[in-house]
Amino acid sequence: MENIKNLISKMTLEEKASLCSGADFWHIKGIERLGIPSIMITDGPHGLRKQEGDTAELGLENSVPATCFPTASSLAATWNRDLIFEVGQALAEECKQEKVSILLGPGANIKRSPLCGRNFEYFSEDPYLSGQIAKSHINGVQSLGIGTSLKHYAANNQEYRRMTINAVIDERALREIYLAGFEIAVKEAQPWTLMGAYNRVNGIYACEHPDQLCKILKEEWGHDGFVMTDWGAMNERVDALEAGLELEMPGPSAGNDIKIVEAVKNGKLDEAILDEAVTRILKIIAKAEETLTDDFKYDPQAHHALARSAASEGVVLLKNNDSLLPLNKDTKVALIGEMAKTPRYQGAGSSLIQPTQIDNIYDEIVKITGEEKITFTPGYTVKGIEVNEELIEEAVKSSKDADIVVICAGLPDSYEAEGLDRDHMRMPESHNKLIDAITKAHSKVIVVLSNGSPVEMPWIDQVEGILEGYLGGQAGAGAIADVLYGIINPSGKLAETFPKRLEDNASSEYFPSGPKTVEYRESIFVGYRFFNSVDKDVLFPFGFGLSYTTFEYKNLKLKQNKISDQESLEVSLKVKNSGKTTGKEIVQLYVSPVSSKVFRSKIELKGFDKVELKPGEEKEISITLDRRAFAYYNTEISDWYVESGDYKILVGSSSIDIRLEDQISIESTQKNIPIAEKDKIPAYMNISKSGKFGQVDFEKLIGYSLPNNQVIKNEAFTMNTPLGDMEASFIGRQLGKMMEKQIEELVKADPDGATALMMKSMIKGMPLRTLLMMGGDRLNREMLEGLLQMINGKFFKGLFALIKAGRS
Ligand code: BGC
Repeated sequence: MENIKNLISKMTLEEKASLCSGADFWHIKGIERLGIPSIMITDGPHGLRKQEGDTAELGLENSVPATCFPTASSLAATWNRDLIFEVGQALAEECKQEKVSILLGPGANIKRSPLCGRNFEYFSEDPYLSGQIAKSHINGVQSLGIGTSLKHYAANNQEYRRMTINAVIDERALREIYLAGFEIAVKEAQPWTLMGAYNRVNGIYACEHPDQLCKILKEEWGHDGFVMTDWGAMNERVDALEAGLELEMPGPSAGNDIKIVEAVKNGKLDEAILDEAVTRILKIIAKAEETLTDDFKYDPQAHHALARSAASEGVVLLKNNDSLLPLNKDTKVALIGEMAKTPRYQGAGSSLIQPTQIDNIYDEIVKITGEEKITFTPGYTVKGIEVNEELIEEAVKSSKDADIVVICAGLPDSYEAEGLDRDHMRMPESHNKLIDAITKAHSKVIVVLSNGSPVEMPWIDQVEGILEGYLGGQAGAGAIADVLYGIINPSGKLAETFPKRLEDNASSEYFPSGPKTVEYRESIFVGYRFFNSVDKDVLFPFGFGLSYTTFEYKNLKLKQNKISDQESLEVSLKVKNSGKTTGKEIVQLYVSPVSSKVFRSKIELKGFDKVELKPGEEKEISITLDRRAFAYYNTEISDWYVESGDYKILVGSSSIDIRLEDQISIESTQKNIPIAEKDKIPAYMNISKSGKFGQVDFEKLIGYSLPNNQVIKNEAFTMNTPLGDMEASFIGRQLGKMMEKQIEELVKADPDGATALMMKSMIKGMPLRTLLMMGGDRLNREMLEGLLQMINGKFFKGLFALIKAGRS
């Protein structure tokens, strides 16, 4: 491609505008006469979902075979930056073979609640950890000349009504929790692109949010790639372009391209903004072009092996009474649970991969032990949620002669999908009852879990061991077998808290919420920030995970004991493997302000390292803390600010298992900095265990009155009205029915299928404008505007407009 400035000077206004929407579902347009190639972008994030066949339509379940690497939930539990970098490189190799230039991922949204249907696609409840992992993933992919799309920017934390919901968040929570992970990834890895989220943030669509896109992302963080919409997230095209959103996906979007042209012609849009957008898109196409002609073939076996080792580091040993694990090869094991033969290894939705191969736990165990040591009974049916007494009885019988019982349980497909939040944190009754029945018949029971986010464990005291396997991808089963039999020493740790009960979470009363707004009332007190600040008991804390060996922490040294807020602090310590097995330890560093004039979390993760140690071996770990490790976002000066005072440096093996502690005194160089009243609201300064945050306090915190959260009767319908809210209109009802009928066909074909369930749950929340994306060539913007008039009761006027637009 020639020089971008020259290219732009040769383009017509129409050509420039047209580059701002995709060519189809999965391509960015090229311009042949100027030698600009069209490039392919595709899902993501933990494998390649390159749609087979016609890319003008959305096909969720027909993609080319690709390695299904562990999902984000599992990758995050590895806390292993180098390993994730390697996975990123492998993903890039698959993209290269398939001529895909940009992979749509990773997802760095914060796990605000264990219920979000897409938690399996996200890393953590903690922004630092999330940012670090996203950074490694992006660096890995991009090191081979393939781009990424960091998503969903930002505050897309629930699936319910995700396309219109208004996330009401205070500035500190936004900066310190919901943007901070993106910030690390952007500043330290420069993803080629970002994907703007569907939702609104404080009233403005994320894809046309000037503060988030222009001011923060581009100006403050220095992002030099481009931003695309999530699929169908475009609201007002010209506003979005002005706000810093370059590419509308999917395309083509002729109506919106024309809007851009008209806005330039009538002086509403400065052509320089369009030129800047086109420049950003062309820069990325030019980067992609460098690898487009490379001939590359990846090695599926090598990738499968990498997927296995990545999954094995993501397995978290949660409980191991009397060191029952690892199992001995000669132990007679009753393996129970259909998930041992039909593995649950990924979630549904846009990340659904057609794996190159799938391992199962039964076969992988048999490879280690031989068949004679293992019996198998299903205990429940793969999709079954209802208790199946017969299968349970059979399983109980099978346990009688075994030395040890291993039960594979967790969440079925239909519980975790894009577009669909869970409404409770329980496992299906069929699984819980099975565990209960087996533990009454046998005293040595190990539970292996396959799930993408936390579950309640009513049986926790009845079992001797628990392995959290997460959704470990196509080779996850082998990883579980390796950990069960001690071929691999478990080294994963939770990247999220497992609360005892759903209602223990500070967000539980406010999640999910709607139909119009979701209030982030708990502010910065997400996950362990809440539990640790109020000393509330949890099932398993953030950062927790056992090993088959033990580690000793010692010699914590702070290089300085007093620094200014402009200096970094160097921390070092030693870790020793004090057990008998080689193992890896994840050392975590938390910072805790001793006192503060504003509300703060008791502790915050600010550093970590993962080290491998042979028995008796000792290593020194060094972590450097810069000023951000101590700062909070001061809303009065709209900047990060470090208060003068003492800060504890806590080093531990989890967020509640602190092994070493010291203190640093920091002197701020910024004097007389004002503090906003809202940064020190008493209800947030002294939060209670109940996790309740009143409306008055929350309004003070956000600085405005709570927006309306109800659908208003007789309100005019707009392009943003969800299909489910058009009941009051005859035409709206018919439209809704028509859409539901189409979905019912899908559901009929596979009643418990997660994709069908996802579509069914999403359809009511989809705004009218998304029909443009679903209608392909058959529907244009003018036709939709005609339809909207009809829905609003102007039947003939609308019909006329619709027919006219259909003819043109
Ligand atoms: C999802 C994105 C995905 C896109 C394309 C959207 O529905 O939110 O994560 O990349 O579809 O499949």
